Amino acid sequence: MRILFTGGSGKAGRHVCRYLRDQGHRVVNVDLTPLGEPGIDNLTADITDSGAMFNVMTSYADFDELEPGTGVPRFDAVVHFAAIPRILIAPDHETFRVNTIGTYNVIEAAVKLGIRKIVFASSETTYGVCFADGVADPEYLPVDEEYDVNPMDSYGLSKVVNEKTGRTFQRRSGADIYGLRIGNVIEPHEYETLFPGFFADPAKRRRNLFCYIDARDLGQIVDLCLKTDGLGFQVFNAGNDSNGINLPNTELLARFFPDVPVTRALDETEALFSNRKIREILGFREQHDWRNYVPEDTQ
Ligand SMILES: NC(=O)c1ccc[n+]([C@@H]2O[C@H](COP(=O)([O-])OP(=O)(O)OC[C@H]3O[C@@H](n4cnc5c(N)ncnc54)[C@H](O)[C@@H]3O)[C@@H](O)[C@H]2O)c1
Repeated sequence: MRILFTGGSGKAGRHVCRYLRDQGHRVVNVDLTPLGEPGIDNLTADITDSGAMFNVMTSYADFDELEPGTGVPRFDAVVHFAAIPRILIAPDHETFRVNTIGTYNVIEAAVKLGIRKIVFASSETTYGVCFADGVADPEYLPVDEEYDVNPMDSYGLSKVVNEKTGRTFQRRSGADIYGLRIGNVIEPHEYETLFPGFFADPAKRRRNLFCYIDARDLGQIVDLCLKTDGLGFQVFNAGNDSNGINLPNTELLARFFPDVPVTRALDETEALFSNRKIREILGFREQHDWRNYVPEDTQ
């Protein structure tokens, strides 16, 4: 497929772009800075500029596309990751503005140009635990896509608004628009640098509901979204199969969520951030369990 990818120079995007390239897709990264990765094209543009989004989506990917003399090829899909990725980077209103207007612009341009598949980055923070003031319990565990998302911060709110934006454009266009509630993204080198610290102080991971998504497994999830047609508007939790911590669920629930209803029987390592929907509907099969990478003496 010929894919326009926003935010491909970032932490998650660069791994997902590589994964998609390696699956044989042509990937054009639209970001404020180029990625500089062989086989991935770059256009520098700002997602908050609507005209720029219409323009990049009607652009050649690189000089080779001039050769056939048949005009600009169409994009088959848009994957939208560009964002301010949490609170406390920019002022709250700026996080809200860039994320919501940017997403509106990307989805609007894609739909109005007739692109029939759009995948966008939502977030685990929509569940309202991550950036809560004080200790907030989820309504129930494991959290799944049926949850009434209810954050109390500008970033989480921007992602809830983006899910509404996606749903609205899907309804009018009939295109497939899938939002990924992405868990805490882990790059390959971070198993060694971060996980021993998580294990030493598990309370640090409570706000993430102990979830993680390997950046390469996230690539698989995006690719599966590109291959799976006809689902209309969907949101999917994007997380790995197990919790990103070396404690059993019996202990995690007793220590960190003693008052939270648990809605079904759970295996001792099964993620409290449920990935059942991507496994059952998209056919996701985890390739990168943390146990393969964290040094054994710290597990
Ligand atoms: N990292 C995580 O753990 C995590 C978890 C859940 C959701 N997400 C979401 O996944 C996506 C990627 O996150 P990330 O961690 O890679 O963030 P990142 O900040 O590393 O990457 C975001 C990219 O977007 C680009 N960008 C920002 N503003 C832009 C603009 N106005 N126009 C064009 N490009 C712009 C940045 O230059 C950057 O390359 C984001 O939507 C984020 O909200 C990330």
